[in-house]
Amino acid sequence: MDALMHAVLFGFLTFGVCSARKVSIPSGPLIRVEGQPVAIRCNVSEYEGPREQDFEWKMKHVAGRASINVVSTFDSRYTDASLSARVAAGDVAVARLGDSEVELRIGEARNADGGVYSCHTPSTDSVIRGSYQADVELTVNPGDAGCNRPKTHLVYGH
Ligand SMILES: *[C@@H]1O[C@H](CO)[C@@H](O)[C@H](O)[C@H]1NC(C)=O
Repeated sequence: MDALMHAVLFGFLTFGVCSARKVSIPSGPLIRVEGQPVAIRCNVSEYEGPREQDFEWKMKHVAGRASINVVSTFDSRYTDASLSARVAAGDVAVARLGDSEVELRIGEARNADGGVYSCHTPSTDSVIRGSYQADVELTVNPGDAGCNRPKTHLVYGH
C-alpha cells in the first residue's frame, strides 16, 4: 500500500505539473434529421508548439473499414474517395474557428452520415502526453415528410 502511494505521489509530482494535450468535442450522441445541417466543434488545449493547430476528422467503422478520412485542415487530398464529391461541393467541410478550434460541417445530413466521428490533432508536443483525439456519435434519423413543415401548410378547407 505504501509502495502504491509512493508510486501515485511520484507520478503526480512528475507529470502533475506538466501540461497534457486535451482534445475536446461535445458529448454525444448528437441527433439530427436527414436533410438538416450538422456542426460538430472540436478544440485542443494544453498543447506545445505552434499556436495554430491542425485537425483531422475521421469517421469510424464505415463499410467494414476501421475508419475513413473525412476532412483535414492541412491536406486537401486527405478526404476518402467516397466523400470527395461532397467535400468538393462544400456539403462536407471543416471550418477553422480559431487557432485551436474547428467545426466539422455537413450541409445536408444523410442517413449514411450517422456514426462515430473522431477529431484528431497531429502532435506538435515535445513529448506525447494527454489525448490526441476525441470521438462523438452522430445519429441521423430518417426525415418524416410533413412533420417539419409549418402548421399553416396543413390548414385546409377555406
Ligand atoms: C472546447 O470544447 C468543449 C466541448 O465541446 C467545450 O466544453 C469547451 O468550452 C471548449 N473550449 C473552448 C475554449 O472553446
